[in-house]
Amino acid sequence: MPSMKAAIIGFGTVGEGVYKIVNEKKEQLKKQTGYTIEIAAVLVKDVTKKRDLSPDIVVTDAFEDILNTPDIDIIFEAIVGEEPAYTYLSQAIEKGIHIITANKKMFAKHGPALLKHAEFRNVHVGYEATVAGGVPIIRTVENLLAGDRIKRIQGIVNGTSNFILTDMRKEGVSFKTALQDAKARGFAEADPTDDVSGGDAFYKLMILSSLAFGNQPEWKKVSVVGIDHIQADDIVEATNADFRYRHVADIRKNEDGSITGKVGPVLLEPDHPLYNIDGVDNAVIIETEYLGALTLIGPGAGMYPTGSAMVADLLHIIRQQATELILN
Ligand code: HSE
Repeated sequence: MPSMKAAIIGFGTVGEGVYKIVNEKKEQLKKQTGYTIEIAAVLVKDVTKKRDLSPDIVVTDAFEDILNTPDIDIIFEAIVGEEPAYTYLSQAIEKGIHIITANKKMFAKHGPALLKHAEFRNVHVGYEATVAGGVPIIRTVENLLAGDRIKRIQGIVNGTSNFILTDMRKEGVSFKTALQDAKARGFAEADPTDDVSGGDAFYKLMILSSLAFGNQPEWKKVSVVGIDHIQADDIVEATNADFRYRHVADIRKNEDGSITGKVGPVLLEPDHPLYNIDGVDNAVIIETEYLGALTLIGPGAGMYPTGSAMVADLLHIIRQQATELILN
């Protein structure tokens, strides 16, 4: 049985999720792909920290060690922020390594360049985990684009905000307590500023815009508001009036070809499709010319949902490669 060697860069909640799923589903992955998937190297910040990793794995804090590990076919990237992630992934592509990323901030800005570079080098890029955690939104949009035209995408794409807004409906739960809980459950980022200020949802929206419309609106023209100003009293008042606060990201392509987007909290009435989306769930409504409207709902954050989206990318890349071999 042929084997495929992978490295994980960043061993936080998501990186660990990928490691666990690849090990727990080894046999299933072997059946589905024809490959034994081996995690050969892991890039961490602190090599002295104790981790439950198999002893034959290279554990390093130097990216060169990852690149120099013999025969790495694929890199799972789960670090936070633009750099050094973009540089690492560019170097990996240059070396002919496939990449799978969960890094929304980096991919919102550099995704188009990475995809172009990867095409030139004949490698694949998976980025399902950058938007809406375990919800297969990227693959769905790609499929729809084959024979349809996307007009608008709107939805809840930050699990932490939705978790907080849901939790604050319970009596006595403050914004601070709800955020702490979201952190403890591995939904919020280590630095949750982007989660609660709308930045995280904005990056995800820009990734969807590039994919659905081939372009992004000018970033500074997109209004971005978070949920950090919403008080417990606001939630009580809304609930009493049968409204619910949801943090919604919205992007559309206008008749004149321009793209407009906005991100922020909105008050929804009970008949709105996003009214009942509670907890860490994300929900994305895609409006198209032929299909009409399609809504995807599922866990938008957390170790296993996000890790599973990255492993799904692995499966997809292996299948794409197999198809290319047949076609060439
Ligand atoms: N912190 C993010 C969220 C993780 O809460 O949605 C998934 O991207």
